[in-house]
Amino acid sequence: MSAYAQELKNTAQAMVSNGQGILAMDESNGTCNKRFDKVGIPTSEEMRRSYRELILTTPNVGNYISGAILYDETIRQSTKDGKPFTQVMKDQDVIIGIKVDTGAKDLAKFPGEKVTEGLTGLRDRLSEYYKMGARFSKWRAVITIGDGIPTQFCIDANAHALARYAALCQENGLVPIVEPEVLINGDHTIEQCYDVTNQTLWTVFDQLHRHRVEFDKMVLKPSMVISGLDCPQQASPKQVAEWTIKCLRKSVPADVAGIAFLSGGQTPEQAAEHLHWMNSEPLKSQCPWPVTFSYARAIQQPALENWKGQESNAGEAQKLLHHRAKMNSVASQGQYSSDKEKEPAMA
Ligand code: G3H
Repeated sequence: MSAYAQELKNTAQAMVSNGQGILAMDESNGTCNKRFDKVGIPTSEEMRRSYRELILTTPNVGNYISGAILYDETIRQSTKDGKPFTQVMKDQDVIIGIKVDTGAKDLAKFPGEKVTEGLTGLRDRLSEYYKMGARFSKWRAVITIGDGIPTQFCIDANAHALARYAALCQENGLVPIVEPEVLINGDHTIEQCYDVTNQTLWTVFDQLHRHRVEFDKMVLKPSMVISGLDCPQQASPKQVAEWTIKCLRKSVPADVAGIAFLSGGQTPEQAAEHLHWMNSEPLKSQCPWPVTFSYARAIQQPALENWKGQESNAGEAQKLLHHRAKMNSVASQGQYSSDKEKEPAMA
């Protein structure tokens, strides 16, 4: 048994403990700059640092967030007063997570498909991150639905990389978040999304099993089973919850420590509502694992748009971030409603 076995198990359980979820704030510099650009925020290392400080110093965010996923630049940064972000997180009781893949790149000879890279030197990077205080990590694979895609080859290549990553994480004391994202972009129906998600998860768990990954020491971060953004027939929130849980029950072993969804381009309110229905009866009692969130945009977006890079907006932006974290916490307990959205922020 690994020297880290008990610690991994405890961390995995803490990441998905009742009423809490994970905040993804691990945008690469490129992605973060794109989001800044859209709302007119200058793209510089200092602005990214300042934004991440705003997020991590949001009062009491640790009530709703069990852990936060950082990017390599962020885990090495500090507040403007010189307090390392890792210390800020420990003080908020937020577990430190780290994105370790190096991005989804075009899959040679498979037009329109991607494979995620980052295995080279990963063992050494994981051991450095562990020493810096990280206790979990994330690797995102991207599956696109389109004309003749995804191919099984693309799913296999991504599942193999995810499993190699997950095994290395467990060897080095970090709980792997395994994230196979089926993109929401396209005009596919919810039925097509169900089929592709099912096929992807089956392949991923087959590879995880072959790589001897221990399911009770990992967290799955799937996309929801949902209609494509351009599909003329949009499934209702309850249908999304039903199709998603049906799919996960068929393909995800009961032993997995927890499910923490990505938001994938849903609005903040949609992401909360879908999570709510999955955590309400009759679906809740059908789930052998805790079901919670690991959102980036569905938690951060209102705060980012309000902040605009201005120090004077920081307080209001923190209120908005706190509110979204709270809404998702409430949703993960099946207690969300649109009325809750009207409650005063930071209460
Ligand atoms: O890898 C993707 C992020 O961790 C989740 O981001 O909630 O904006 O889809 P999202």
